[in-house]
Amino acid sequence: MHTAATDLLGIDVPIFAFSHCRDVVVEVSKAGGFGCLGAGYYTKDQLKEELTWIDDHIEGKPYGIDVLMPNKHAPLGTVKIDPTSLPREQSDFLKRLLDNAGVPELPKSEYEAMIRKEIEKVNMTRSESESLFDTALEHPIKMVVNALGVPSKEQVERMQSRDIRVGALVGKPEHAIKQKEAGVDIIIAQGSEAGGHTGTISSMVLWPQIIDAVAPLPVLAAGGIGRGRQMAAAMAMGCAGIWCGSIWLGTKQSDLLPEEKECLFEGRSEDAIQSRSRTGKPARVLRSKLTEAWEQPTAPPFLPMPLQTLVTMEARLRINRGKAKEYMSPPVGQIVSSINDEGSVKQLIFDMLMEFTDCVERLNSSIEAK
Ligand SMILES: Cc1cc2nc3c(=O)[nH]c(=O)nc-3n(C[C@H](O)[C@H](O)[C@H](O)COP(=O)(O)O)c2cc1C
Repeated sequence: MHTAATDLLGIDVPIFAFSHCRDVVVEVSKAGGFGCLGAGYYTKDQLKEELTWIDDHIEGKPYGIDVLMPNKHAPLGTVKIDPTSLPREQSDFLKRLLDNAGVPELPKSEYEAMIRKEIEKVNMTRSESESLFDTALEHPIKMVVNALGVPSKEQVERMQSRDIRVGALVGKPEHAIKQKEAGVDIIIAQGSEAGGHTGTISSMVLWPQIIDAVAPLPVLAAGGIGRGRQMAAAMAMGCAGIWCGSIWLGTKQSDLLPEEKECLFEGRSEDAIQSRSRTGKPARVLRSKLTEAWEQPTAPPFLPMPLQTLVTMEARLRINRGKAKEYMSPPVGQIVSSINDEGSVKQLIFDMLMEFTDCVERLNSSIEAK
């Protein structure tokens, strides 16, 4: 296939994958698409290890990283080095909830080390993100995507001078225009159906607005795409390709727990709700007893990012260790209804392209002269 996005990155098909899982990144790039590793929750050393593994397995195909750099950020103070200084109201609330549900506590002997290990992975301040960039620059990455803020012109130029493309994920036309002004190479227009942090404008309405707002910059369509029909719709609207996150979560290559995958296989579109319970910002996650508890009038207030992530960490570890499925709330979009079994990434891309081709043929035949 040939679009502005395939030309920009030297790939065969305009299918981009966001994933926290290195195996998904590698499989998508090897299949001719472009894998982008979500690097928001790694320490520098872990990121180095993941990128080295990718370099060893990706057979020279291009790949990128996605970093989280919010414009607004709660001051962290010393909480990163002292887990005991985290606010207690929210973690006590979750402790009571899980105690009452009979979810086993974390083993006392390992408790502090486990929490500390998780806290070290939250690297979202500007200086922390920049330090992750430095690590990533030691690897042959071809694109850096930022989701939560506008990069400085210097950052953009630094990447571009090394032949690295810069992408920005946005949910509003105004944000897309700011990113264009900062000099980014490609915009990812993410509709509210998407998994993870989302805005409020749905894909069908957002994509053409953003295409018009930033033309001639290439725009990738994100939010609610998991099949060839949706890919064809996005490209018919003028998108240069697609950017998917949720659809890879159920695959063999995804490192979600088997119980989390089961929750996804059972999930319906209406179960993928927006909740602030995970990070403090509205994010689409699977409804569970945990998200329902946060909606009760007696629940404590949500904290700003990244404190909410930090105070809910212990509960998430506990839920995962205890395999407490009813409390699992993995981030996922409304496309969850199309995640039904544990197929391979390669098969998924093949099926998507076959369905895409059928759609294009159907459209073409609909305007054939009689
Ligand atoms: C589990 C999960 C985690 C995500 N985390 C991030 C993230 O850290 N950074 C980011 O830019 N986007 C993140 N996203 C959003 C994706 O980049 C992508 O825009 C979105 O998944 C597209 O919509 P879809 O979920 O309908 O495919 C995440 C999505 C999911 C499903």
